[in-house]
Amino acid sequence: MNKTIILYRSKTGFTQKYAEWAAKELACAIAPWGRGAMKGYDTVVFGTRAHAGRAEGLRQALSAFERSGAKRLALFVTGAMPNTAQETLEQFWAQNLTAEQREAIPHFYMQAGLCYERMGPLDRLLMKGLKKYLARKACKTPEEAQMEEAIRRSYDMTDPAFLGPMLELLRKG
Ligand SMILES: Cc1cc2nc3c(=O)[nH]c(=O)nc-3n(C[C@H](O)[C@H](O)[C@H](O)COP(=O)(O)O)c2cc1C
Repeated sequence: MNKTIILYRSKTGFTQKYAEWAAKELACAIAPWGRGAMKGYDTVVFGTRAHAGRAEGLRQALSAFERSGAKRLALFVTGAMPNTAQETLEQFWAQNLTAEQREAIPHFYMQAGLCYERMGPLDRLLMKGLKKYLARKACKTPEEAQMEEAIRRSYDMTDPAFLGPMLELLRKG
């Protein structure tokens, strides 16, 4: 039987929520990054957040996977970008994975939200800086105007339906 583990990094809970939904659907193992080992699993799913254009901790996860002996890796990233922001998403993946990795590793994005209440002090400060920058900007693109509105307060757009394509692939075994 194909043994799968979902390892996730989550600061404010959104990635954890998606990881838990997926683990329930797949009836597989789940652990926060750092506490679960990849060894002994056939498939590893790594979930993390988008952070200033980067998939946080991706490099460590990729090298741990290479050393693990596991056969298959899938990635998912949660963030504030809308699922429909195709160009931004393509840019994001190009920044985080090489063309070869994009070809070889199934990767998925799931829109989540923002949670100021659970954010660390550094992240709050970064968000404050972004708010200030956008407020001062004279000619905003429609995306920037949308972002300015979206980051005003906490919100949660998580939806188990966003897991659909990843679950479909993982169920194929
Ligand atoms: C400082 C900071 C930078 C962020 N940068 C991005 C980003 O580049 N792209 C994006 O889509 N979301 C970005 N986000 C939103 C987070 O990725 C989003 O809230 C994520 O779902 C958090 O996951 P977690 O709750 O599992 O920690 C950022 C959030 C913070 C606080």
